[in-house]
Amino acid sequence: MLTEGHVSLVTGAALGIGAGIAELFARNGAAVYLLDIDAAGAEVKAAQIRAAGGEAHAMKCDVSHRGDCAAAVEAAMKRHGRIDSLINNAGIYPRRVFLETSEADWDRMQEVNVKSLMHTCQLVLPHMIARGSGKIVNISSVTLWIGVEKLVHYVTSKGAVLGFTRSLAREMGRHNIHINAVTPGAIKTEGEDIHAVPAEIAAIQAQQCLDRRIMPYDVAAACLFLSSPLSDGMTGQTLNVDGGLYLH
Ligand SMILES: NC(=O)c1ccc[n+]([C@@H]2O[C@H](COP(=O)([O-])OP(=O)(O)OC[C@H]3O[C@@H](n4cnc5c(N)ncnc54)[C@H](O)[C@@H]3O)[C@@H](O)[C@H]2O)c1
Repeated sequence: MLTEGHVSLVTGAALGIGAGIAELFARNGAAVYLLDIDAAGAEVKAAQIRAAGGEAHAMKCDVSHRGDCAAAVEAAMKRHGRIDSLINNAGIYPRRVFLETSEADWDRMQEVNVKSLMHTCQLVLPHMIARGSGKIVNISSVTLWIGVEKLVHYVTSKGAVLGFTRSLAREMGRHNIHINAVTPGAIKTEGEDIHAVPAEIAAIQAQQCLDRRIMPYDVAAACLFLSSPLSDGMTGQTLNVDGGLYLH
């Protein structure tokens, strides 16, 4: 499904949705760079992908640090001379009651979930422009459509991701660069065990059209489509992968 020799950067790829994206892209023939603040975790996942016959490179990268992002882009360009897709997946979602959210909580959320997109896109786009093609997928969240208490700082950041996606798509279309977003619903990941209550997850599943948990693979499949020539007619769009939780 991906173009021959496809090279992809996936942020937050040690666990959860990002790990699912890296695995699926590698299975589809891409050389995958797993960028994660958790260097050891990224290396474990990259080794699993290599053991299954794929090409994977782990890079320690805090996406809120421009220098880390630059080093990852440079490494991929040095080895492959091209970057075909960038999946901006890294994100944090600690819960905070709004009135107890500190300025530091707020700033960290926006730095990791929003400002990081400026870093990665500004670093990758010049290479995509030079080749006259590229695919960027930004991971937002279904919470944007419905609003969630104790996540005001998070949902705000995920709204910004859509504004970023739409505006940058307008600016980059003339270079044949496609920039789309995915809004996952309640996805079964390792992060869920830390942040979510089982009863809440069961209540969400009960509101979905599909009576099953939506998995990292489901989100990865949408990212694969948006990184492949099958979506060449789409840019500035948002795909909702939530099992039919929110219909629009
Ligand atoms: N899990 C869900 O239900 C769900 C729903 C909607 C949207 N999302 C979004 O999907 C994305 C992935 O979520 P997940 O549930 O897989 O998360 P997760 O917590 O399971 O994994 C996130 C990964 O990102 C890495 N990471 C965290 N901060 C980082 C940083 N500063 N730099 C680089 N890497 C960093 C972590 O080490 C981890 O490997 C996030 O953007 C999240 O907001 C998740």
